[in-house]
This record gives sequence, structure tokens and C-alpha cells, in this order.
Amino acid sequence: MDFALPDYARIKDHRDLSHIPGSYGLPLIGETFSFVMDPFKVLDARYQKHGPVSKTNMTFQRFVVALGPEYIQQLMLDREQSFSARMGYNAPLGDFFAGGLLMKDFAEHKFHRRIMQTAFKTDAMRTYVELMHPIIDEQITKWGEQEDFHFYPNIKTLLLDVGARVFLGMDLGGPATAALNQDFLDMNAGVLSLIRKDWPGLLYRKGMNGRRGLEKFFVGLVPQRRGASGNDMATLLANERTEDGDYFSDEVVGAHLIFLLLAAHDTTTSTLSMSVHYLANDPAWQERLREQVRGLKKPHLEYDDLATAVSDLDHSFKETLRLNPAVPMLMRRTVKEVELGGYVLAPHTMVQVSPLYTHRMEQWWSNPHSFDPDRFAREEHKQHNFQWVPFGGGAHKCIGLHFADMLYKCVLSRLLLNYRFSYAKPDQFAGKIQHFPFAKPMDNLPLRLERLSRGSLCAADSMS
Ligand code: HEM
Repeated sequence: MDFALPDYARIKDHRDLSHIPGSYGLPLIGETFSFVMDPFKVLDARYQKHGPVSKTNMTFQRFVVALGPEYIQQLMLDREQSFSARMGYNAPLGDFFAGGLLMKDFAEHKFHRRIMQTAFKTDAMRTYVELMHPIIDEQITKWGEQEDFHFYPNIKTLLLDVGARVFLGMDLGGPATAALNQDFLDMNAGVLSLIRKDWPGLLYRKGMNGRRGLEKFFVGLVPQRRGASGNDMATLLANERTEDGDYFSDEVVGAHLIFLLLAAHDTTTSTLSMSVHYLANDPAWQERLREQVRGLKKPHLEYDDLATAVSDLDHSFKETLRLNPAVPMLMRRTVKEVELGGYVLAPHTMVQVSPLYTHRMEQWWSNPHSFDPDRFAREEHKQHNFQWVPFGGGAHKCIGLHFADMLYKCVLSRLLLNYRFSYAKPDQFAGKIQHFPFAKPMDNLPLRLERLSRGSLCAADSMS
């Protein structure tokens, strides 16, 4: 089925926000730089000064910021179909996200979400866990041999390899995949470029060349996977059919695969890096998690362990995402007139709501800036359905949330069993955190890894 470009996608942003309190900051760049340096501080200052709804200007766009769980709920549930995700993300990310699920709205979005059905069902997830383990084991076992170990680049490599295997059914490392890997990294880097012109010499052009390389590769891959048996996502997506029984086109499947890779990689890399950062600072919690994993007396976590058997690990995942949601701001553009927090917004107005701010509001969280996974055991997050929303909500709710959870738990449990880890330098916890595009310690998280003897891996390894 072909969907025409919606009329609202041809119309520019509505930029007259004169009736909304707030200010636009510096000429042109607005509040971009202060926000990138300390997003919570900037949002909190607006909240204190202007209340929950205000206007601002960042990354060359004027928009309304609405802070607090009730606005997240209004935008995500979108009962009247008033908010376009496509137009929300179009200006900053449209070229790189083209054809991805988040760039589709309403009926078209529903039609396309169907393509992911089989690839995210429980049976597929069980298979992915089994595909992941050998790669995770092999790489983490070697980490202890490195002289000057930095967690961030190593987890990035590990997750790229897991992605290649699980998403594409391929192994990275050979010459055939080296170009693909580079294209992917170039595209990721291009997404961040400030000057967004496809001109020679610019980072943006490099990123777009990466995207074009990936498109060529994926569009070629899809027909090879049709009718083939395989347990990777590319094969599952290539064989998905519409309600009318037709395959989705090669171009459509290719674009979805690229977006999936993009959506999965940096988000999980950031979450694992930040979690290890907190756990290196908190040996008691680190030990508690290790004991819980050891207590399973299995060589690996199994799919059925993920939901309840590792509750502390689960709470550490949730707490890391509370403090550092990988998608700190959720973006939408109105498609019709909407009332938001007592203000009427004209059609085509940009609006952002913020998991990052809501996750640290004193009204909802005790000691909101401290790492306290037990708050999820105390069910502090259950006071409002939209106070903990690292995966968004409603129609566009992250389709990969169970995948992310699974990957986090499989990687962290193996790390905990193999090593006791601590900061490599004194005062490291106080070091700077880079907030954008994804949170990570700026120093790439140098760690001291103390290898645990096979004996202390307990029954876990003696069973393997
Ligand atoms: C910790 C890791 C992750 C976080 C925090 C995260 C967060 C999010 C959020 C907040 C959204 C909704 C954005 C919006 O409504 O504006 C989203 C959408 C999406 N995510 Fe994730 N994500 C993660 C991992 C993944 C993974 C591993 C995959 C794939 C395997 C994935 C695939 C997607 C897709 C396809 C969408 C678009 C869904 C739609 O539009 O219907 N994400 N993610």
C-alpha cells in the first residue's frame, strides 16, 4: 500500500509563539549550548521561572517545552491524533531516519509497525538471546587482557558485533563487512553535525554517504533473504507480509532495518556505559548484582530469567535509564490546533516533552539525582503512568524495549561474573558526563578489571 506525503508535511513550522511565556536565548543558536552542557539545569531554570510550559529556541528551531508527566501522557497517547512524530523529528533527523518507523504517523505508522511483528515476538527474542551469548562471552573474556581498558569503545565494538549477528545474520570483522561498519559509524556521526547541508567536506555529507552505502547494501540484502530460513531480524522482516499477503518492498524493508540499527545501537551503548559508571562507584551494589547472578547457578541468563529472576539487575537497568534516558526529549509537531497546559497551540507548532526532566522531578522522586535502584522495589515509579518513560509511550513506544533489557542483562551479568571492576583513576566519578547525543562519561570510562577466578564463578561455570 502506498501512502501519499501528508499535506502537513509540506508546511513549515509555525514560529509565532508570542503568547507562550519564555525566551529564545541567544540569536540563532538560542539555548543550544547551555542545554547540551547541562540539560537538567536549563530545563529546571525554565520550570522555576516560567512554569511547566514555555517557549525556547534550540538547534535552530523554535518550540514549546512542556515539563512533567501529564504532558508526556498527552503527547504520547495522542487521543485526537494531533501530534506528528514525523514532523517532530524531521528537521534534525529526517534525512537519516528516512523511512524509519518513527518517521511515520497514524494509519501509515500502524501499517508499517506490522512489519516488525514477528521480529519482536517472544520466540524471536529467545533466539536472539542464544545468538548473543557466544559473542558477549568471547569479547568480555578478552577485555581483561587489555593494558589500558576503556569501557566505552569496547562496549561499542561488542554491541556492533551483536547487532551484525542478530539484526543481519552476519559476522563483522571480514572485509565484506568492514565497509558496512564504517558506513554505519559515519551515519551515526553525521546525525550530530550542526551544519545540516549535504555539501562536500561536511560531516553531514559523510553521514549521508554512510546512509547511502547502507541503503544500497540493505536493499540488495532483502531479496536474498526472501524465502530463506534464518533467525536474524533481516530475514524475519524480509519475509513479513502485509494484510493483503504481499511482501513489503525491498526499499521499505531496507529503510526499516537501517532505522532499527540506528535506534538500537547508541541507546544500549549509552545505557550500559552509564550503568557501569554508577556500579564502579558503588561496590556494594556491584557485589549485590554479582551475587544475584551467581545465585542463578547457570552459565548464562536464559530468556525466562529476564523478567523476574534478576530483579536487582532489572532495577539497575531502570535506574540507569531514569537518570540518563537515552532519548532525553521526545519531539512532536502539531497537525491541528491543540490545547496544552492552558495555551492554544496553532497547527504545525513544534513541541517537546522531556523524560530527562520528568525523571528527576522532586515531586515524583526522592533524592532524584542519586543512583538508588531500590526505588523501583519501593515502586516509587508507580505514582504516575508517565513519570518513568525512557521508552516513550503510546503508538510509537519503543518496539525494542525488551531487546534492550535483554541485551543489558546479558552483557552486565557476564561482566559481573568475569570481573570486579573499579575506576582506573582517583576521583573519576566526579568526572564530566557528556549528555548529548547520548550520555557517557567523557573520559570513555577507563576501568581496572580484576579477573575473578573460575572457582568464584561458582556453579555458573562449572555447569558450562
Ligand atoms: C535503552 C535502549 C533504548 C531506549 C532508551 C529507547 C528509547 C526509545 C524511545 C523513547 C522511543 C520513542 C520515541 C518517540 O516516541 O518520540 C523509541 C522508539 C523506537 N525504538 Fe527504541 N530505545 C532503545 C532501544 C531500542 C532497540 C534495542 C531497538 C531495536 C531493536 C529500538 C527500536 C525502536 C524503534 C523501531 C522505535 C520507533 C517505534 C515507532 O515509531 O513505532 N529501540 N525508542
